[in-house]
Amino acid sequence: MTPASTRRLLAYCLPFLALSLFLSTELAYVNYRISGANRQSQIDTTDLNAHRTTNYFPWESISPTDELIWTDCYSNQQCARLKVPLDYSRPDGASAAIALIRTPSAVPHDSPRYRGPVLINPGGPGGSGVDTVVAAGPLLSTIIGPEFDIIGFDPRGASKPFPLHFTRIQTSEPTTTNAGVARSTPRISFFATRAERQLWSVEGASIASVNSSADALARGWARGIVLGQRAGREDDESLRFMTTDHTARDMLRIMQAHGREKLQYWGFSYGSILGATFAAMFPQHVGRLVIDGVMDAEDYYATKWSKNLFDADKTWMSFIDGCVAAGPTACALYAPTAAEILAKVDKIYASLRARPIPVHTETASGLIDWTTVRSVIFASLYSPYAFFSTGARILADLYQGNGTSLFEILQQQPAFQCACDPAEYQFERLPEALFGLLCNDGARISPEYEDVVTHYERLRETSSWADVWAFLRMPCLDWPDFPKNHFQGPFVANTSFPLLLVGNTLDPVTPLWAAKKMSEGFTGSVVLAQDSPGHCSIASVSLCTFKYIRQYFLDGILPEPGTVCPVDIPLFPPTPSTDPGFADAVEDQAQVRFVDALSAADRNLFEAAKELVELSPIRFPRGI
Ligand SMILES: *[C@@H]1O[C@H](CO)[C@@H](O)[C@H](O)[C@H]1NC(C)=O
Ligand SMILES: *[C@@H]1O[C@H](CO)[C@@H](O)[C@H](O)[C@H]1NC(C)=O
Ligand SMILES: *[C@@H]1O[C@H](CO)[C@@H](O)[C@H](O)[C@H]1NC(C)=O
Repeated sequence: MTPASTRRLLAYCLPFLALSLFLSTELAYVNYRISGANRQSQIDTTDLNAHRTTNYFPWESISPTDELIWTDCYSNQQCARLKVPLDYSRPDGASAAIALIRTPSAVPHDSPRYRGPVLINPGGPGGSGVDTVVAAGPLLSTIIGPEFDIIGFDPRGASKPFPLHFTRIQTSEPTTTNAGVARSTPRISFFATRAERQLWSVEGASIASVNSSADALARGWARGIVLGQRAGREDDESLRFMTTDHTARDMLRIMQAHGREKLQYWGFSYGSILGATFAAMFPQHVGRLVIDGVMDAEDYYATKWSKNLFDADKTWMSFIDGCVAAGPTACALYAPTAAEILAKVDKIYASLRARPIPVHTETASGLIDWTTVRSVIFASLYSPYAFFSTGARILADLYQGNGTSLFEILQQQPAFQCACDPAEYQFERLPEALFGLLCNDGARISPEYEDVVTHYERLRETSSWADVWAFLRMPCLDWPDFPKNHFQGPFVANTSFPLLLVGNTLDPVTPLWAAKKMSEGFTGSVVLAQDSPGHCSIASVSLCTFKYIRQYFLDGILPEPGTVCPVDIPLFPPTPSTDPGFADAVEDQAQVRFVDALSAADRNLFEAAKELVELSPIRFPRGI
C-alpha cells in the first residue's frame, strides 16, 4: 500500500477504532482520533464493508486452550485465547482466558534470524493490548524489527478506556462495530446492564474535575464509596484475582506457551508497573524489557497517585511557549507573550464558568462547559504533537465564544446504544476494570472524607492539574476487603538482562524523575530520555529513541547512561492543515527536506513513528 492510501485507510478506520484504540495512560480515557467530519464523508460503502471485515473478529469462535493455537484474524494477524489459572495458588482450580493477537515476524520462525515474541502493554491499567496491536502492530514491528512477532494481549479483567459522557442528543444513526470487545475473561463489572453503567457515568463526567462545582470533591468521594461497594456486590469471586501480580504470571505463561523462558516486552505508562513487577518477581526470566513512561511503583502500590504530576505544569507551559515561538500562522491562539496567551485561556475558563456554550451541529446538540475544556486541555498534554495545533484552534474558537470545533471532535465517539441482545456485548470491555486493577493492587486507603480533602490539598502542592487527577483513587475508598497477599515490591533485582527505561523530559503524568528512581533498583538498567513533551516516547517521533529501542531488542545494546534523544517533528507544524487532527496533511518544507535526506530504512522508521503519533489518541479524564 502506498503511504497515501495507508493514511487514507487509517483516517477512516480511526473513528471506528476510537473506542478501543490505544494507549498508555494510567487514567482511563476515551480515545478520540481527531478527524474532521469531512473525512468520514469520504467513506463509500465498499470501504466501510472492507473496514468491518478487517476490524471484526468473532472472539467467541475461539475456545481457550492450554496451548497456543493461532487463528487468522483482522488483517494479516493471528489470534488465540490462552487458558491460565484464575488463581495461581490453585493451578488446578478455575481458569481464566487471555486473549492474544500477533503481528507475525517477517522472518520465518525456523530462520536463525527469528527472534521471538515481544509482548506489548499499552497501559491503563486494563488497557487492551489486542486493540493496540490491531491498530498499530505493523508500526511497532517496523520500529522493533521484522525479526520479532509483536504480541498484544488483553490483561485479565481488561477494561476499555472510559467514554467521555457529556450532554448530547444523538440524532443520526449510530454506527455499530465490535470495537470495544474484550476477549479476556472473566472481566470486572460493577453494573448489571449497559444502561445502568451509562446512567451512572453521566454525572461522573460532570465532576471530572473536583473543582467543577463547590461540591464536586464531596460528590466524588461519595460516588467513590458507592463504586467500591458496588464492586463487592457484583463480585462473582473472581475480582480478587485481577492484579498486576497475576498478570505478570500470565505473561510468563504466554512466553512459556511460545516455548521460551525469557520475556521480551515493551510496556507503556501503567505497563511500566507491569514490567517492573514482572522483573522484580521473575528476575531470571528477563530477556529484553523496555518500560516507557515510567510510574513510581511505590506510589502506585500505596494507592496514592501523588507523584504523577511533577512535570504537568511544565508540559502545559510547553504549549504556551511553543505557541509564542510558532507564530500566528502555526498557532491559532498566538499572542506575542506567554502571559497574554495565559490571559486568553483564563478568559475562556472564566467565560465558560459563567455561561457554558450551547452547540448544535447537523447530527447532535449539546454544550461545552468549563469541565470539558479543563479535561480536554489536560488530555492534550498527553499527545502534544498530535493535538497542540488543533487544540490551539479550538481554544481560539472558544475565545471567540464558538464551541463548535471542540464539540465536533468530542462527537466522534460512537453514541451509546442499549443492547437488544445482551449476548452482543458479552465480551465488551468495561471501564470499571481500571479501578478493579488499581484498587486491588494498591494498599487500603482511609475512607474518611477529611483524609480525601487532605490528600487533594497535598496533590495540589505538586501541580495545578490536581483537580483532574484527584478522583482516580476514590473507588478504592471502600473497596472489598480482599487479602493483600500479592507482590507489591520491593522493586529491586539483578535481572538476567538489564532493563531499558524510557522517559520524556516533559511527561504530564509520568515524570522522568520516576524512571530514574525505578532504574536505581534494577542492576545495570539505563534510562533513555527523550527531549519532548507528551506521554511516552511514541507521543513524538525520534529516530534516535527508536533506534536505541531497536538496538536494545535486536543486539542487546543499551544506550550510554545520560543519553538524551532529540525529536524530529515540530510541536506546531508551520503550516497546519485546516482539517483537525491532520496537522501533517500540508507537509512543511523543512520536514520534507529532513525526510528526503534520510536513508530508505530511516524513512520507513520515521513514517511508522509518525503514524503512531497520529494514532495516539487524546485521552479525556472523565471522573468516576
Ligand atoms: C480549584 O479550587 C481551589 C480551591 O478553591 C483553587 O485554589 C484552585 O485554583 C482551583 N483550580 C482550578 C484549576 O480552578
Ligand atoms: C464556529 O466555528 C465553526 C468552525 O469551527 C464555523 O464553521 C462556524 O461558522 C462558527 N460559528 C460562528 C457563529 O461563528
Ligand atoms: C545483586 O547482586 C549483588 C552482587 O552479587 C548483591 O550484592 C545484591 O544483593 C543483589 N541484589 C539483589 C536485589 O538481589
